[in-house]
Amino acid sequence: MSPPSDLLRQARPTANIAVLASGGGSNLQVLLDHFDGERAQAGRIVWVGSDKAAAGALTRASKAGIPAAVVSDPRDGDALVETLRAADADLLVLAGYLKLIPESVVRAFHGRLVNIHPALLPAFGGAGMYGQRIHAAVLAHGATVTGVTVHFVDAHYDRGPIIAQWPVPVLPGDTAATLGARVLRVEHRLFPLCVEAVAGGTVVLGDDGKVHGHVAIPVSPAAPEWRFGLVPDTAGDVAAFATEWARLFPR
Ligand code: GRF
Repeated sequence: MSPPSDLLRQARPTANIAVLASGGGSNLQVLLDHFDGERAQAGRIVWVGSDKAAAGALTRASKAGIPAAVVSDPRDGDALVETLRAADADLLVLAGYLKLIPESVVRAFHGRLVNIHPALLPAFGGAGMYGQRIHAAVLAHGATVTGVTVHFVDAHYDRGPIIAQWPVPVLPGDTAATLGARVLRVEHRLFPLCVEAVAGGTVVLGDDGKVHGHVAIPVSPAAPEWRFGLVPDTAGDVAAFATEWARLFPR
């Protein structure tokens, strides 16, 4: 479904994207690479912030020549809004940011604030659910499917309207580390597509609080992992699905 035309933002052609990250920054890196390549006209990373001075994300930003800063008081929403305005940011993206986003920032970036979470929300989310804890909880519950969620951010951890999800299988013998690595590979595929869709206004948060539009996910033989979420409905599909699954996850 296309977004109703009255919901389309009057976006500038190339959106300015700010990123907050607390960790190593591999998701930041895929965004830097995505918007530095043939999708450069769709968005540009203009600022990277972290609550941790030692975050690898800050190093990655500096290497890419992007202004990078430590957010000295993550609870000071007004200061953060001011910094984001000074960076001329249209969009704020959370790429593994562990602090709660202050309400004033949520308000200022309503419909323009996006988070990625390495599980299928609303399961395995909320305060204290981060990093390997998420994957350990998935395993402890005996879940057989987990995945990735990209969502708009509200004033609560991991709770805003969902933009896109993708399932990831839990396999026998998984540890939190092996499962987390499998989920991260899907994060790296899904995240740039979602950020680009919001940056370009093909996905918007409506006044009804619902997500309008959809993220175009390429399904092709060259990217079989995108087929995980499809329900095979012919004998041929079932066979192709099984072959792809076995190739990707050899026992
Ligand atoms: C990712 O799993 C992300 O979904 C989560 O934190 C992790 C960050 O990884 N919120 P990285 O720093 O992007 O490598």
